[in-house]
Amino acid sequence: MRSDYCGALNASYIDREVTLCGWVDRRRDHGGVIFIDLRDRAGIVQVVFDPDAQDKFELADKVRGEYVLQVTGKVRARDAATVNPNMATGEIEVYGTDLEILNEAETIPFPLSEHSSVGEDVRLKYRYIDLRRAEMQKSLQFRSKVTIAIRNYLDENGFLDIETPILTRATPEGARDYLVPSRTHENKFFALPQSPQLFKQLLMVSGFDRYYQIAKCFRDEDLRADRQPEFTQIDIETSFMDEEGIMGITEGMVKQLFNNLLEVDLGEFPRMDYATAMAKYGSDKPDLRIPLELVDVKDLMDEVEFKVFSGPAKDPKGRVTALKVPGGNDKLTRKQIDDYTKFVGIYGAKGLAYIKVNDVSDVEEGLQSPIVKFLPNNVRQAILERLDAQNGDLIFFGADKASVVSEALGALRCKLGEDLNLYTREWAPLWVVDFPMFEEGDDGSMQALHHPFTAPSCSPAELKSNPATALSRAYDMVLNGTELGGGSVRIHDQTMQQTVFEILGISSEEQREKFGFLLDALKYGAPPHGGLAFGLDRLIMLMTGASSIRDVIAFPKTQSAACVMTDAPGAVDAAQLRELHIRLRQKEQKELKEKSE
Ligand code: AMO
Ligand code: AMP
Repeated sequence: MRSDYCGALNASYIDREVTLCGWVDRRRDHGGVIFIDLRDRAGIVQVVFDPDAQDKFELADKVRGEYVLQVTGKVRARDAATVNPNMATGEIEVYGTDLEILNEAETIPFPLSEHSSVGEDVRLKYRYIDLRRAEMQKSLQFRSKVTIAIRNYLDENGFLDIETPILTRATPEGARDYLVPSRTHENKFFALPQSPQLFKQLLMVSGFDRYYQIAKCFRDEDLRADRQPEFTQIDIETSFMDEEGIMGITEGMVKQLFNNLLEVDLGEFPRMDYATAMAKYGSDKPDLRIPLELVDVKDLMDEVEFKVFSGPAKDPKGRVTALKVPGGNDKLTRKQIDDYTKFVGIYGAKGLAYIKVNDVSDVEEGLQSPIVKFLPNNVRQAILERLDAQNGDLIFFGADKASVVSEALGALRCKLGEDLNLYTREWAPLWVVDFPMFEEGDDGSMQALHHPFTAPSCSPAELKSNPATALSRAYDMVLNGTELGGGSVRIHDQTMQQTVFEILGISSEEQREKFGFLLDALKYGAPPHGGLAFGLDRLIMLMTGASSIRDVIAFPKTQSAACVMTDAPGAVDAAQLRELHIRLRQKEQKELKEKSE
């Protein structure tokens, strides 16, 4: 139906006849001449109809916004005065000789150019229209380029693309499962995969050696700007490769992507151990574009009168830390400090103490702060020295359980970086390594920090005797404060796997019931193996500068995990439920009945 894309035309086409298909972006009547901006996925071109071709002119007059047209015409240069340098096709226009209206359109629910003034719910309800916007077209076309580049890179490196099931058993990655009831097995449920983790490990046991898949994953968890209930991983697994090999090959992939698609050289990724990341940045995904660092002052505070500080200082699980904002005295108003106090409250912090450094040489009079009266002079002096404070600096303090302080002050650090635009560079990639194997709950129970298939850096006996301090062979790739990917060398030994399950409090029966197939596979010649998975949506979000992963997914879910366009999840009729052996609770049943009546 067409010879060329609208947006692809340029001066080299002058005098050529073209046939275009697309949507009417704009139609203008300029005293006897009709201009139509015709749009397709490649862009927009101006088409002109004048009364010389009378029947076509009359038809063009009927055309309205978003009508679908087929236009034939000759490409010609625009007059110098009408050249539009802001338009890719701005040097030319198409003189229309033929026109067919392929379809009409009602007025669309929101104008494509002014999307920012419509709510995201409306955009998502009419997503097929929202996706016509140049920005959305660009980001999904870019996404396609990225996946092709990834496939090529992995193919060139000997990786095989193998699919794994969507209807499966629980694959623990720390979120809730999406369940699918079975019709043929009464009272039983499939779980949608949180990741292909166990299947990719089994593919290594089968000898495929290098696997990848661009895989859909499903996690029922609280959503944020960088989380969706259904998202895509670039999932990778290898045999006979240690962490160096795996990090090398995946770092190479990300570097090549940035080089080829954005002309950005990310350089070699530095490594940071988990303990350092938490100590200096309060986060296991530090944003290294921001130069601020946390400085612990716990050891200075055990004797001070101020209980808010001395309590956590004396508690082995407590943390007292400081964050210096150079020149912050002038940059931050009282109101902003109050707002930051509210902000850290989101993370459970009960307050946000601060000291304004007016004169470092005078610890008696030179410090301005609601808490300084509780601190003896020697402590004041020690704080200033440790933080290398200068006149005009502002120092924030957090004191509480270590987890609360790290999270709150880590988030504050990022917020300050953003608000005060402290970024020192555009891209800051790194690897975070040497993660602890487990996280200890308040009740002393252990949770896997990555997943329970991650290999520890020690023997089963050592792991058993010191689970809380054991490190794992896991690694995360972090870019600009976002966890892009995570992976590990896996356990390939049955005894080690059982030890980890035991520490996690999974009984032998439960181990057999849930992971019997894995434990069996480890008995039949499992090679040493390991891998990693990237969040594809997050990668595209960062590469395109989008502020949410919803902007790089064609049909995302809302913040409440629903699809407002198809109205999913939806109610199902009673017959379908009966087939699935499901009876709803009283309340839902009544509602369903009322609906069907
Ligand atoms: P993990 O759970 O760290 O590891 O996930 C890997 C990467 O997937 C992305 N991601 C998400 N993206 C969008 N929405 C979500 N809800 C979401 N959850 C995770 C992140 C994350 O880094 N099987 C292991 C990988 C392995 O060990 O090989 C796994 O799934 O970018
Ligand atoms: P208060 O004595 O509770 O009025 O607190 C005095 C100052 O300490 C205020 O600036 C509070 O914001 C701050 N503050 C209170 N609790 C904490 C905490 N856990 N960590 C840091 N600062 C705190």
